[in-house]
Amino acid sequence: MNFEGIFEKTILIVKPDGVQRSLVGEVLRRLELKGLKIVGLKMMQLDELKLREHYAHHVEKPFYSGLENFMKSSPVVCICAEGKGAVEAVRLIAGTTNAAKADGGTIRGDLAMGMCNVVHCSDSVETAKAEVDRFFKEGEIFDYDKTEYLHVYMDDERV
Ligand code: PPS
Repeated sequence: MNFEGIFEKTILIVKPDGVQRSLVGEVLRRLELKGLKIVGLKMMQLDELKLREHYAHHVEKPFYSGLENFMKSSPVVCICAEGKGAVEAVRLIAGTTNAAKADGGTIRGDLAMGMCNVVHCSDSVETAKAEVDRFFKEGEIFDYDKTEYLHVYMDDERV
């Protein structure tokens, strides 16, 4: 059989609106129910330096200062999730950036209406690798066997 995807790590950040609205557990719940493995989890306060690095391709855009202020307004929760094709899977779970137009069943579609869109997630495998290094230090990402994988993937998918 030909199964698509390889095991990948991806980053999801519960933004200040998600923390303030008590949605951290709901976001984690959706990732876990999907069968993703949580391999890193931490609360952190983002500062200007980190945000300018993270949103480097947006700093010149008119919305950037509002975005930076929003992202600094309270701590965020960074999640590193692992799974086969995890980057795309998490993007689908998150839904489109404009929450008002995001599909029902997605985090943004179900839980948000505007640009306070609850979560950030990595947009490609390359970005995900950079974001793992940006938000997690050595020793903060865990490598362990998840017994549930026996019931998430077929034998020949767990390679
Ligand atoms: S773009 O210009 O199409 O590349 O931007 P987009 O991918 O839609 O959004 C990039 C991130 O910027 C956030 N964003 C905003 N925040 C606040 N206000 C406004 N107007 C706004 N427009 C875009 C958007 O939520 C994306 O954040 P992340 O963290 O990547 O989800």
